[in-house]
Amino acid sequence: MRLLFLGDMVGRSGRSAVWEKLPGLISDFRLDFVIVNGENAAGGFGITEEIFRETISAGADVVTTGNHVWDQREALEFAQRTDRFLRPANYPKGTPGRGSGVYQARNGARVFVSNIMGRVFMMPELDDPFQSVEAELAACPLGEQADAVVIDFHAEATSEKMCFAHFVDGRASLVVGTHTHQPTADHQILNAGTAYISDAGMCGDYDSSLGMDKEEPLNRFLSKVPKGRFEAAGGPATICGVGVDISDRTGLADRIAPLRLGPRLEETVPAFWS
Ligand code: FE2
Repeated sequence: MRLLFLGDMVGRSGRSAVWEKLPGLISDFRLDFVIVNGENAAGGFGITEEIFRETISAGADVVTTGNHVWDQREALEFAQRTDRFLRPANYPKGTPGRGSGVYQARNGARVFVSNIMGRVFMMPELDDPFQSVEAELAACPLGEQADAVVIDFHAEATSEKMCFAHFVDGRASLVVGTHTHQPTADHQILNAGTAYISDAGMCGDYDSSLGMDKEEPLNRFLSKVPKGRFEAAGGPATICGVGVDISDRTGLADRIAPLRLGPRLEETVPAFWS
């Protein structure tokens, strides 16, 4: 099956680019399943129900999140009314919403998607992601209740991301890092068949600081005195993510390659999809 994962949508620029491009990508490349990280979609901070629903309408099967999941308070409420919106699974028991789910892909495959947050340089510090993923995979093992397993590991430190991926190698189809907003070039298939990238990058304006207008972040580095608020950058967005071919027989990854479309970064689409 063909799966597309798009990294963190940032602000109006990022979400508009995803809504505009996703339907064409799904039909042109005959995609079976699409996941989009949406935790920065509302002005860089959280996501509203309207943005979530529009992203699903554009063709996303699941929207994942991370540390900014509750920045828009309405998420605490709508997270309980849909199974296609995920917050990190390692939030404490009793947290609204869900951290994972099983979804039917367009080719009929059962895709288990789990969203887990790292703990190195991350706030809030959640439960141990390694213990959490162990419980998640035990509840829905690849090859039994799931034909594919995708984990959005929302974390800062590449060491934690890499170790996490090795920990689940052979038990997941894809471990995709999110949160840093900068796409990495280390996409690969690990020894036991799990596809991996340290960070998918963002869908946003790359003439910025991580998708935010660069003036205020730069001011804070220079002066240490806040002058204003962080605002999402409004220039045209480049969408970033990874395309993965997953074996229908084993549920493990056959191929992974980056996808980047937009005015700022070098454009690329997975060659095996053309
Ligand atoms: Fe984040």
